[in-house]
Amino acid sequence: MSGVTNASPLDDVSTTGPRESLLVQAARRNPGARPPVWFMRQAGRSLPEYRSLRQGIPMLESCRRPDLVTEITLQPVRRHGVDAAIFFSDIVVPLAAVGIDLDIVPGVGPVVAQPIRERADLDRLIPLDADAVPYVTEAVQMLVAELGETPLIGFAGAPFTLASYLVEGGPSKNHERTKALMYGDEELWHDLCRRLAQISGAFLRTQAAAGASAVQLFDSWVGALPRADYERYVAPHSRQALGAVADLEVPRIHFGVGTGELLPAMAAVGAEVVGVDFRVSLAEASRRIGPDHAVQGNLDPAALFAPWEAIEARVRTIVAEGRRTPGHVFNLGHGVLPDTDPGMLTRVVDLIHELSHEPQIELSDQGI
Ligand code: CP3
Repeated sequence: MSGVTNASPLDDVSTTGPRESLLVQAARRNPGARPPVWFMRQAGRSLPEYRSLRQGIPMLESCRRPDLVTEITLQPVRRHGVDAAIFFSDIVVPLAAVGIDLDIVPGVGPVVAQPIRERADLDRLIPLDADAVPYVTEAVQMLVAELGETPLIGFAGAPFTLASYLVEGGPSKNHERTKALMYGDEELWHDLCRRLAQISGAFLRTQAAAGASAVQLFDSWVGALPRADYERYVAPHSRQALGAVADLEVPRIHFGVGTGELLPAMAAVGAEVVGVDFRVSLAEASRRIGPDHAVQGNLDPAALFAPWEAIEARVRTIVAEGRRTPGHVFNLGHGVLPDTDPGMLTRVVDLIHELSHEPQIELSDQGI
């Protein structure tokens, strides 16, 4: 077995298991000497080993092959030494599993053959059961065995973001058809989102039940809404999705892009950790969210294209700010961009790992 850590799961004596990892501890607001670090989209096109493995295999097919899922998920853990693995899949995998005809088009994203826009269309969104995604359970189990003490993060798309793909039929800048449905037929909107919340919650639960140590709910596009609309149209459904794993004692991370105005509302729907994009500083985000939640973030993924000295200064600032929050998980403010030099990601990980050996610099010394 090619375990990626020194600890073999066989001699895992529960003092060093994934549940005691820096990630889970930071999420529980028991911060260690340094923040844990992982990157959204750490598995993917920035890695040459990913590109060569995926050659000729469509994205959705690769998500259904536990051997490939396991290998792709492990690649960034081996290469960068990140403190968590994120399960290789996609937010639309559970939609495909319940029979929605869709494809993930390279360079575009998810494209839905027949968008969902009318009440009759809801019949196509049947409930998700773990039996419909056996390849997920199998891959999570294989990964947990391989990862040893490194935690695996499961994930799902949140109802709003899933609804946007289904209603628009593909990626959208303005979400106009989604908003037309939401504002124009509130009852249909809520019925749609209730179904999506079940699917999203069941997908999270499948991964947590199979051994994932934490989960992340991606509401990538919900920053398109003002707070009042978030609370009325979205919050009940994201609460339902996160509630599906409430009894499993896995920390829940809730992330969106452009959500500065929504952070307290996103915290309130049932997450231990709130993901922060790069538009709001961690200190300000934590002030908005309050002392009961840890934060995750928030290096701008585009900043990784700057010279190392500039990146290093930003990483140090984020870590220093994170030390003043109840708990901090280091991440980017959104996913790794495909053209990112993977060497820069490794250097960020190395720097953060070294920080536990340095005396802690007070933020006031840096004029923050
Ligand atoms: O490393 C990881 O973070 C785990 C894997 C992961 C993928 N998608 C793999 C993927 C995760 C967590 C996702 C979530 C996802 N998928 C989100 C939420 C995260 C975010 O970025 O906001 C969203 C909005 C999607 C929908 C989606 N799927 C998009 C926008 C794309 C990119 C389209 C493109 O080609 O630019 C996909 C495809 C996708 N999902 C890829 C990967 C690695 C690229 C597929 C490829 O390699 O050809």
